[in-house]
Amino acid sequence: MDPTRDNPLIRIKAFIDGLGIFTLFAVILLLIVGAGAIFGWFGKTETPEDAAGDIRYGIRKEIDSAQATVLTKEQISAVVGDVAGKLASSKPLAIEKPEQIVPGSDTAKKLAEAPAADLGSIDAPAADADAPIDPAVMEIGKAQFMVCGACHGQNGEGGPAGPPLAGSEWVTGPVSNLVIIQLRGLKGPITVAGKVYNFPAGMTPMAYQTDEQIAGVLTYIRNSFGNKASAVKPEQVTALRGEVGKPQATVEELTKP
Ligand code: HEC
Repeated sequence: MDPTRDNPLIRIKAFIDGLGIFTLFAVILLLIVGAGAIFGWFGKTETPEDAAGDIRYGIRKEIDSAQATVLTKEQISAVVGDVAGKLASSKPLAIEKPEQIVPGSDTAKKLAEAPAADLGSIDAPAADADAPIDPAVMEIGKAQFMVCGACHGQNGEGGPAGPPLAGSEWVTGPVSNLVIIQLRGLKGPITVAGKVYNFPAGMTPMAYQTDEQIAGVLTYIRNSFGNKASAVKPEQVTALRGEVGKPQATVEELTKP
């Protein structure tokens, strides 16, 4: 019989050795699991739906951050508001007869609320009236004039659908007349350079043009075909935007040139 078998001291030592080895393994295992958690060795257990969701959220995050670097929410809404405002103010075009306005409609309200423009200040000679004409403005005007030329002749000589612009006292006269004709159109008899014209349909309003385009085309006709007059400024057009939507103007409503 083994003499150590019944020695309690040896048994206790064997037990303590075993406990020590067990503790050592436990510590090593804990270290491995801890390091694994920190460095992500084991990966996540996730469903295919989770994985697909992760990809979608990732893409969404990338798009959001890309957009955030381009425009802020405030900038975007400012632009959208601006465009909407421009669209609203560019409509409607002039209407043929006042009775075509529906009472209580947006158009009726807009016309009732439109402030009366101060024609005197629009037509007052500008301090820089003699300044040389900006060639860039003439370029804008020339491009716009393609449409006008269809009725008024490409050299402003007049034609079967419009009176002449060359040598017209209206063209070199008060700016407010010219802006009103662009924004509301014109009908009824008109005397141009001593000759009476009366076109059945008159001139259609061309309020779809921007203030810069209208200023450009008016500056262009005032300084082409032998005409010479001061430039028209976009602000002079802006000041009369309230005219948009009113019926075609008549000569009686204009300032005598
Ligand atoms: C659809 C044909 C047509 C187009 C396009 C047109 N007009 Fe007219 N325009 C007329 C007619 C017609 C009259 C005269 C209206 C009347 O009988 O009272 C007129 C009158 C005028 C007058 C005052 C009279 C004069 O001869 O000086 C000016 C200024 C004028 N138009 C400028 C323009 C400009 C600038 C454009 C382009 C942005 C333009 N028109 C586009 C037909 C047109």
